Amino acid sequence: SAVEPLKVMISGAPASGKGTQCELIVQKFGLIHISTGDLLRAEVSGGTEIGNKAKEFMNAGKLVPDEIVTAMVTGRLSRQDTKEKGWLLDGYPRSASQAESLEKLNIRPDIYIVLNVPDEVLIDRCVGRRLDPVTGKIYHIKNFPPGSEEIKARLTVRPDDTEEKVKARLQIYKQNAEATFSTYSKIIKQMDGNRSKDVVFQEIESLLSQVQEDKAESIKPK
Ligand code: AP5
Repeated sequence: SAVEPLKVMISGAPASGKGTQCELIVQKFGLIHISTGDLLRAEVSGGTEIGNKAKEFMNAGKLVPDEIVTAMVTGRLSRQDTKEKGWLLDGYPRSASQAESLEKLNIRPDIYIVLNVPDEVLIDRCVGRRLDPVTGKIYHIKNFPPGSEEIKARLTVRPDDTEEKVKARLQIYKQNAEATFSTYSKIIKQMDGNRSKDVVFQEIESLLSQVQEDKAESIKPK
């Protein structure tokens, strides 16, 4: 039988670099990136029913109710491309009850990566973050400024990226992190996210390559 593709979860506080690393992981491993934040922001900008419900929670830096987010994620995970290419879940599960929802459906990752970054760095990263609405790329006014004036002129700021809202988001993250981690204690990999993005990616890349090799090894006839 063929090797099953990789199944990866990535977690960490707001602005710990999940989206940035996911861009690099997708380029290298071709996984289907499922970011609940991105999916919700698309619903909001599309003015859909889900978007209208989610908006006030997101803008206040609070979690969107489970039933909305869980239906969105499980719907996306049930599509054929995730079975063929593997998946990279970013921003979900974010609480013990969300992890429990996936466990009930037997949806489990091969590895659970956590990016650790000190609080004061997170705030600076959020306040300086800019998004390109055309390409979806993530920039930072100091760390990763865009390469052209044309891109610079169209960059947008997330409404939940003010210092006050980042602090609220960080507090919610801290309240839920340990309980979420405990579901994945056997496969958790905590790493220092306060290094350059290339150095962080090198560690993730070698980790995922190892997981891939282990999976290939485990189906070899003995
Ligand atoms: P979501 O979009 O998931 O936000 P988040 O978890 O707060 O994470 P961020 O997107 O802020 O940060 P990131 O870790 O991706 O960092 P990035 O790579 O951009 O969720 C938003 C909202 O949606 C939630 O508050 C909630 O309301 C709702 N929601 C989402 N999922 C939910 C769920 N499961 N349940 C309920 N509600 C949910 O990097 C940040 C900045 O730092 C960028 O400017 C980047 O350029 C820079 N940077 C990145 N890496 C580095 C580096 N190594 N060195 C220097 N700078 C760096």
